[in-house]
Amino acid sequence: MSILVIGGTGTLGRQIVKRALDEGYQVKCLVRDFRRGAFLKDWGAELIYGDLSIPSTIPGTLKGINVIIDSATIRSTSSYTSETIDWKGKLAVIEAAEMASIKKIVSFSVLNAAKNSSIPLLDLKARIEKRLEAGKVNYIIFQCSGFFQGLISQYALPVLENETIWLPGDSAPVAYIDTQDAAKMIVETLNNSEYDNKKVALIGEKFWSPKEIIELCERLSGKTAKISYIPVFAFGFLRRFFRFFEFTWNIADRLQFGEISGDSSKPNNEAFWNSERLSLENYLQEYFGKILKKLRETNYQQSQKSNEISFL
Ligand SMILES: NC(=O)c1ccc[n+]([C@@H]2O[C@H](COP(=O)([O-])OP(=O)(O)OC[C@H]3O[C@@H](n4cnc5c(N)ncnc54)[C@H](OP(=O)(O)O)[C@@H]3O)[C@@H](O)[C@H]2O)c1
Repeated sequence: MSILVIGGTGTLGRQIVKRALDEGYQVKCLVRDFRRGAFLKDWGAELIYGDLSIPSTIPGTLKGINVIIDSATIRSTSSYTSETIDWKGKLAVIEAAEMASIKKIVSFSVLNAAKNSSIPLLDLKARIEKRLEAGKVNYIIFQCSGFFQGLISQYALPVLENETIWLPGDSAPVAYIDTQDAAKMIVETLNNSEYDNKKVALIGEKFWSPKEIIELCERLSGKTAKISYIPVFAFGFLRRFFRFFEFTWNIADRLQFGEISGDSSKPNNEAFWNSERLSLENYLQEYFGKILKKLRETNYQQSQKSNEISFL
């Protein structure tokens, strides 16, 4: 089976590429920047140029491909709007897949996207879900909640560096999952027609509120977090401010994520409850363990150096 991964340089995409290569699949990665994708080539993937903002570049990348895994999404720093990448770009992929008689498209959405259509990016996700359901190609739609890896910059580093963490007054709990576990589950479904034309929730075993994650970081790092709560009206003001300039629309959309409504009940389409997966406690314990060891070693080396200098 020959797979095209779109978004292979991303947080989830790179783990899918690695896992698929390890399982013996032939993997081609659509990249818009060969230098950025060089590590994927080192792992054994073939790189092919393509850009979701230029739909004409898509059809040529599908030659010899059976399955498309599309884990691309707009970068918050991108100069494009989410409409360009997460709607027009994705439509171009689906249409090209239909023309090329691709066997299966693996797509990624957000848990409860359809219930949050007031948030532009989530509305696009829900519309792509509908387009796939109405299309001619078999699909699997994984509905994700959040990934462990994003928590390092969001919470772990600010706690370590004593930086203020800004939180909305009230945010929906998130069932974070490790991207390596997610990739394992995704690759397992490639050869399993049981999952064809299904929407599958791909989430961790527990829903976490920001406060619970910060408390965990405090416990594991031995530090106290600085938290500031932003009132809902301030979030609304910031969002309107960023919406004012087109180049900051993506930031405005991300801010609106604080308004996602969701509940912490397990969705009924979660297909992997029995799979073993890394817990957030163990993931963060390993992270803080490594960082604190490194800090202790650096401090020790520095104190050795200053001892040598005072001895001289
Ligand atoms: N992160 C989360 O917490 C979360 C939660 C729910 C759902 N999801 C969904 O899960 C999927 C994976 O998310 P992620 O966090 O792994 O994404 P990510 O780390 O932000 O990676 C985005 C990927 O999309 C690629 N991309 C962006 N614009 C492109 C373009 N014009 N042409 C081709 N490729 C382009 C990027 O390539 P470059 O390296 O070239 O920029 C990168 O590989 C997405 O569908 C996302 O919406 C994520």
